[in-house]
Amino acid sequence: IDAALSDGPLKGKHILVTSGPTHEPIDPVRYIANRSSGAQGSAIATALAALGAEVSFVTGPADVPAPQNVRVIPVQTAREMLQAVQAAPAADAAVFAAAVADWHVTNAGDSKIKKDGSGLPQLEFAENPDILATVSQMKQGRPKLVVGFAAETDDVIAHATAKRARKGCDWIVANDVSPATGIMGGTENAVTLISDDGAEAWPRMGKDAVAQRLAQRIAEVLL
Ligand code: CTP
Ligand code: CA
Repeated sequence: IDAALSDGPLKGKHILVTSGPTHEPIDPVRYIANRSSGAQGSAIATALAALGAEVSFVTGPADVPAPQNVRVIPVQTAREMLQAVQAAPAADAAVFAAAVADWHVTNAGDSKIKKDGSGLPQLEFAENPDILATVSQMKQGRPKLVVGFAAETDDVIAHATAKRARKGCDWIVANDVSPATGIMGGTENAVTLISDDGAEAWPRMGKDAVAQRLAQRIAEVLL
């Protein structure tokens, strides 16, 4: 792909990015999902490619268009996203920006559920695979740097710090998505980068600026 030819500090590096929501079908016309426009993930993939990285971009059905200069691998469900991540070539770094649905419906059918008076549908759920945790805990071929996201409310840093430890990723990019912040669905983000070095709060800035700063930091680690 073109991006691999461009010069920059990430030239020759392969980086995996997950982005967007996943859709878990209930029937052919209905699904469950987490909220995600895909904007932050797309911006990160764009910023990494601009620094010369070869980017594999595994994306659920997002609102924003997929970036240029990346290898786009479209998926629908969390289980498909895990398969695509595992099928991608070995990565130097991986950034998990997707808002993966936590559950899928085990009794989803090929027939549309009708409101035919036979009562409410009885949906049954199973937990989805944790893609970030799976990659973080790989025994062989683990990317040198694994970055997760944590969109939290209430005690954001404590939740995100616990999540980082539980999953085993190197960094967590935490943000406060309480309605009062106006972050959710907007063009700006206010994140805290949590690593072995502690919690580093970044000022509120555009999602593109967050992406560029994160890409720069990733480049420093992979140098
Ligand atoms: N993630 C993932 N696979 C999942 C769930 C989450 O890869 N099945 C990744 C997300 O892409 C994100 C990070 O894990 O980088 C945190 O997602 P989040 O939904 O905050 O974590 P959960 O473990 O699902 O916890 P919660 O109960 O707070 O939703
Ligand atoms: Ca979740």
